[in-house]
Amino acid sequence: MNPAAPELLAGLRAILGAEGVLTDAADCAPYLADHRRLYQGRALAVLLPRSPGEVSQLLALCNARRVGVVPHGGNTSYCGGATPDESGRQVVLSLRRLNRLRSVNAANYSLTAEAGCVLAQVQRAADEAGRFFPLSLGSEGSCQIGGNLSTNAGGTAVLRYGMMRDLVLGLEVVLADGRVLEGLSGLRKDNTGYDIRSLFLGAEGTLGVITAANLKLFPQLHSHATALAAVADVRAAVMLLGRLRDASGDRVSSFELIPRIAIELTTRHIEGVRDPLERPYPWYVLCELSSSSATEGLDAVLEAALGAALGEGAVLDAAVARNERERAALWRVRENIPEAQRREGVGLKHDISVAVAALPDFVARAAQWLSGNVPEGRLIAYGHVGDGSLHFNLSAAPGAAPEPFLARADAVRRAVHDLVHEFGGSFSAEHGIGRLKVGELERYASPVELALMRAVKRAFDPHGIMNPGKVLREE
Ligand code: MLT
Ligand code: ZN
Repeated sequence: MNPAAPELLAGLRAILGAEGVLTDAADCAPYLADHRRLYQGRALAVLLPRSPGEVSQLLALCNARRVGVVPHGGNTSYCGGATPDESGRQVVLSLRRLNRLRSVNAANYSLTAEAGCVLAQVQRAADEAGRFFPLSLGSEGSCQIGGNLSTNAGGTAVLRYGMMRDLVLGLEVVLADGRVLEGLSGLRKDNTGYDIRSLFLGAEGTLGVITAANLKLFPQLHSHATALAAVADVRAAVMLLGRLRDASGDRVSSFELIPRIAIELTTRHIEGVRDPLERPYPWYVLCELSSSSATEGLDAVLEAALGAALGEGAVLDAAVARNERERAALWRVRENIPEAQRREGVGLKHDISVAVAALPDFVARAAQWLSGNVPEGRLIAYGHVGDGSLHFNLSAAPGAAPEPFLARADAVRRAVHDLVHEFGGSFSAEHGIGRLKVGELERYASPVELALMRAVKRAFDPHGIMNPGKVLREE
């Protein structure tokens, strides 16, 4: 143990109380591994503050002692963003006890939540106030608002409402030295100099700790029309998106691509999932229109648009949900793709985006490279086609040995990300950088961008205590 550790722990206990400083191995274990089990870290302690004041004091102490602090939310990062390193010299700062919903302002269409609130709790609070909070993710029952903000989370409603960044009216942030940036006023217009707060969104806890946020709410949704449409290829999917946006007065709130193999995996591995259509098709889109009006006739709009597309051969078949149960069944297919892939066995994940219109060419080029170079892999490309964002994953083909397949991970990642770069896209559309993609950021970000990021990091965190080694390599 670091010789200064007992003194540091005593200082932390004086701030947080004995129960706010975990050091027992079993108590700490859930905070030391990421949920994909890519990393197993160690830590001096896990800290459980109850208030922004406590966060401020503990950061001031850690900054003075140059102790690395790893902010930790619902531990749903795909990139190891909330896991400490192996040195045992860092502390984990869990936000889970900072979970008060401070206020809901229905008239202002906003609410203020602390960082440790679970996303589903915020969605419920909005609903109870007759409002709607649109961020929607597979992990919404466990991910926390602080993590959603710090990773600029995306999900299945970005097409209509934007990413987490677009849902923020204000932030309260504790800086590395313990100073507090108060910014919860909730103004919709405020052009007073640099937008400092936006730097914390997507910074993955490397610039400071977000302790609370003022979030935008929207009118509640009172009607949905949902369908699974079969299409021949990704080009037909992208064309259908434009068609539905035009026909519906831009009421498309989700538009998710599903390949045939995902239907096979979800029906095989997830109880209660059935193929919604009678025959197999190469690709599908789960499309949903939604409106705050109960009388807009969205079903008729969707059916008419799909009917016309069917008549022209642009859509091959479609299942339209006739009630909530059928709607939930369609969403169950989409939401269980990651879990079904996990149960199928080893896989490789890439979280990419390109311009929506470029997706068909990107998928065709990448699929061609994979079939020529990785015959032991099966492509599972699914996700948010309406945002140009796909989970471009691979699973080992049946009978393929896992080790040689996994040994190709670096080569496959390089080929996929190089192609994304050639298309002017992003190698991390929605899951962030964490520890996993630090090297990728160094490779693909421009020197100007990297220099600015490093300058910002030095300005906000001169001693490098905030989530060291995440996003940017330690200097
Ligand atoms: C999703 O869209 O399902 C997730 O972002 C990706 C995943 O869980 O692999
Ligand atoms: Zn996703």
